[in-house]
Amino acid sequence: MVSTPDAQQIAAAADALRAGGLVIMPTETVYGLAANAADPRAVAAVYEAKGRPSFNPLIVHVPDVAAARRLGRFDARAEALAQRFWPGPLTLVLPVAEEGAVSDLARAGLDTVALRAPAHPVARALLQAFGGPVVAPSANRSGRPSPTTYADAVDETGAAASGALDGGPCAVGLESTVVALLDQARLLRPGSVTRAEIEAVIGPLEEAEADAKRSPGRMTRHYAPNAPVRLDIEAPAPGEAFLAFGSAPDGERIWNLSPTGDLAEAAANLFAFLRAADRSAPVAIAVAPIPQTGLGEAINDRLRRAAGFVG
Ligand code: TXA
Ligand code: MG
Repeated sequence: MVSTPDAQQIAAAADALRAGGLVIMPTETVYGLAANAADPRAVAAVYEAKGRPSFNPLIVHVPDVAAARRLGRFDARAEALAQRFWPGPLTLVLPVAEEGAVSDLARAGLDTVALRAPAHPVARALLQAFGGPVVAPSANRSGRPSPTTYADAVDETGAAASGALDGGPCAVGLESTVVALLDQARLLRPGSVTRAEIEAVIGPLEEAEADAKRSPGRMTRHYAPNAPVRLDIEAPAPGEAFLAFGSAPDGERIWNLSPTGDLAEAAANLFAFLRAADRSAPVAIAVAPIPQTGLGEAINDRLRRAAGFVG
């Protein structure tokens, strides 16, 4: 049983952020490593704790759209998407509204800012108690799968944190959908808010540019376990771990992402099962074909990155 952090633990975590410390923060997508977005030293400490290249900017977390409007320039598209999906697993990349409110380092020097209002009650409580913008990249070390449980988050970056909040396992299990609303509306990172759901609100999305400056996160190898990953495999070879999807035999080293073929369940299990499969020290991790529809776009995006296909 998970015991939800009480008001005292939330207040202590907010104090840790004020003092320039890092805090492991649960969100509905994945665990984040949180810091005061206005404090360049704290932001630098996040990059250092993750071993993250400092040209890859961070998402700024806020309690609500009113706080977000002080940081990014909201047009009609941004208002409509925030209205429909916030709080929730959607990040909006917007032109910066107020120079200085978010440290330059958090934006990696870009003139845009990525904003998200998370839905997890513990994240919301921490953001309210802290009262300012908070950067929170996924709490993994750079290039590793995002942590979806408290234990995995503490294991990855806990040593660098001065506080940690246990919010239980993450319900979504994949990082937020990232949409840039600049001249064009572009999908920079697929996620659990699907392309179709976004297009239903603001119309067609352009393909993301192959421009590393505009879509920095797309260029790096990501989400990689230690074992090689092989995709679209119907049956594993000897010595391989297998991530199945849909009806499949049980067995040693077989993890079924969703026996009923449910994409939301598969998304929630993906990173934890990649980690578990990896811990079994297989010769490789074979993964069953996942349909490319709806949430499948985001799952396949993460799997291709885990397999080392990037770009
Ligand atoms: O679900 C999530 O978004 C999690 C939780 C903790 O909120 N956070 C997360 O953060 O995934 P991170 O830092 O691991 O991923 C941020 C992504 C990267 O792909 C980064 O390149 C992109 O957002 N990003 C951030 N700021 C950007 C900007 N100004 N322009 C374009 N992309 C940006
Ligand atoms: Mg990440």
